[in-house]
Amino acid sequence: MIYDLQAALSLTYVWLKAGHVIFVIFWIAGMFMLPRFYIYHQESAPGSEEEKRWIERERKLRSIILTPAMILVWIFGLSLAWVTQAWTMGWFQMKFAIVLGLSGYHGWMVGYGRKLAMGLRPVSGRALRMMNEIPGIAVVLIVILVIVRPF
Ligand code: HEM
Repeated sequence: MIYDLQAALSLTYVWLKAGHVIFVIFWIAGMFMLPRFYIYHQESAPGSEEEKRWIERERKLRSIILTPAMILVWIFGLSLAWVTQAWTMGWFQMKFAIVLGLSGYHGWMVGYGRKLAMGLRPVSGRALRMMNEIPGIAVVLIVILVIVRPF
C-alpha cells in the first residue's frame, strides 16, 4: 500500500515538474513579447488602423498565452512545493519572493495594456525598453536558485 502511494507521488512529481517548466516557458516568452508590442504600439499614430491592430494583438497575447500560463505556473509550482515540502528551504523562499515580484510586474503590464487601449501612453518607449530587462534578470536568478540551490 505505502509503495503504491510513493510510486503515485513520484510519478505525479515528475509530471507536475514537466507541466511547471512547460508553462514557465510560455509565461516568460509572453513576458518578453508584450513590452515589445507596447513599444511598437507607441510608435504607431494614435487612433490609426495600425494602433487598432496592436490593441488586438496585445489583448490576444495577454488572454490566450500570458495570463493562463502564469496561472498554470502557480498551480503546478504550488503543487510541487506541497509534494516536496519546499517551503522550508532557503532557495525556495528566495525564489518565491522573486516570483511574487514577477507576478506583480505581470499585473502592471496587464494594467498598462488597458491604458494603451484607452489611448493613454504614460510611459516612454525608452522606459519600456529598460523595463523589458526585468523578466530576463528574474529568470536568471530563479533558475540559479532552483537548480544550484546555493542555500
Ligand atoms: C509561481 C510560483 C512558483 C512556485 C511555487 C514554484 C515552485 C517550484 C518547486 C517546488 C519546484 C520543484 C523543486 C524540486 O524538484 O524539488 C520547482 C521547479 C522548477 N521551477 Fe518553479 N516555482 C514557481 C515559479 C517558477 C518560475 C517563474 C520559474 C522560471 C522562471 C520556475 C522555474 C523552475 C524550474 C526550471 C524548475 C525545475 C528545477 C529542476 O529540474 O530541479 N519556477 N518550482
